[in-house]
Amino acid sequence: MLSENLIKELNEQIKYELYSENLYLAMAAYCASEDLDGFTNFFKVQAEEERFHAMKFFDYIIEMNGRAEISAIEAPENEYGSVLDTFEKAYKHEQFVTKRIYKLMDLAIEEKEHATISFLKWFVDEQMEEESTFNGMVKKLSRIENNGHALNMIDAELAQRVFTPPATTDK
Ligand code: FEO
Repeated sequence: MLSENLIKELNEQIKYELYSENLYLAMAAYCASEDLDGFTNFFKVQAEEERFHAMKFFDYIIEMNGRAEISAIEAPENEYGSVLDTFEKAYKHEQFVTKRIYKLMDLAIEEKEHATISFLKWFVDEQMEEESTFNGMVKKLSRIENNGHALNMIDAELAQRVFTPPATTDK
């Protein structure tokens, strides 16, 4: 049985994951407006991943006999100065999400809620990966500055990204 406070914080995380989904869709829309199909694809796939994260929290709360709740989600920023700007903001956002996951983990540890500790471990690893991906892209895009040819090459590379959910929902 999860505590009321833990259920409240897990529900709060659904909101942040859905916000992340919308944020990355907004970034995809910006990239589409710049005719960068690969970057658009990258952010659309990222949005799908965020939906998957939100659903993991949703399903977990229900599995633990809690009440999942959906609350209002703030509108994301829609205007960006460049693709580098989108990745800098995405990286900053992922650092914020990591702090949220750590806060949840701290709470689960404090309450000795071992099932939730185990559940959250997947997200700790996932955040490490996401921060690394976005940080890597910031570095790459900073290096190429205004080189259009290099930007097109990265765009072609990102067109290959596909969403592949883990085989089971509990992993
Ligand atoms: Fe669901 Fe990008 O963290």
